[in-house]
Amino acid sequence: MDYLKTLSNVIHDVNHVMKSHPKRLLHIQGVASCMEKFSKQHHLNVIKSLIIAYLHDITKKEDDRWHLSHSNPLYLTIFEDYPYYLHALSACHIAKEKYNIEDQSILDALLYHCTGHDDLDIYAKLLIISDVCEPSRKHHDTTLIFNVALKDVEAAYKMAFELKYQMHLKENQKIHPWFKKAKENIEENHVS
Ligand SMILES: [Fe+2]
Ligand SMILES: [Fe+2]
Repeated sequence: MDYLKTLSNVIHDVNHVMKSHPKRLLHIQGVASCMEKFSKQHHLNVIKSLIIAYLHDITKKEDDRWHLSHSNPLYLTIFEDYPYYLHALSACHIAKEKYNIEDQSILDALLYHCTGHDDLDIYAKLLIISDVCEPSRKHHDTTLIFNVALKDVEAAYKMAFELKYQMHLKENQKIHPWFKKAKENIEENHVS
């Protein structure tokens, strides 16, 4: 896979799809900027991080029916009562089918960006952190999480995940079973 070519195609398509959704585009660009900084700091593949960032919400503006017809049928039953999370499923599907991405690390980061999951790698964790921290989000001051992520990804992931979870509860979002399970695992593994 040519990562640079894929990134250029993805950025082109995101700009097109989000032309009439400037706030969402700004959010995606903010996530990309955080991912770029974190990846450089932790000596990761910056192009891969940017592909993940630009793809993570590419299907966010589609409706539920669209998501259901552009997702891996394997997961549909576990997602059908949780419409908020469907865009993660379809983003993963599009990455595979439209952009021919086979890198499991990219696919997992996309699939689990709303819920977390067991054994996520550093790219998936950085996406969840960046999704919470990016500068156009005004919900909380996330400067601390951002600064922690430059030094200790695990600690920042725990903080970002907790904030994300509390925000979902506050917004009365129905909590997806994967999200609950990931929260339990984080609590078990981060006894301090
Ligand atoms: Fe998302
Ligand atoms: Fe997002």
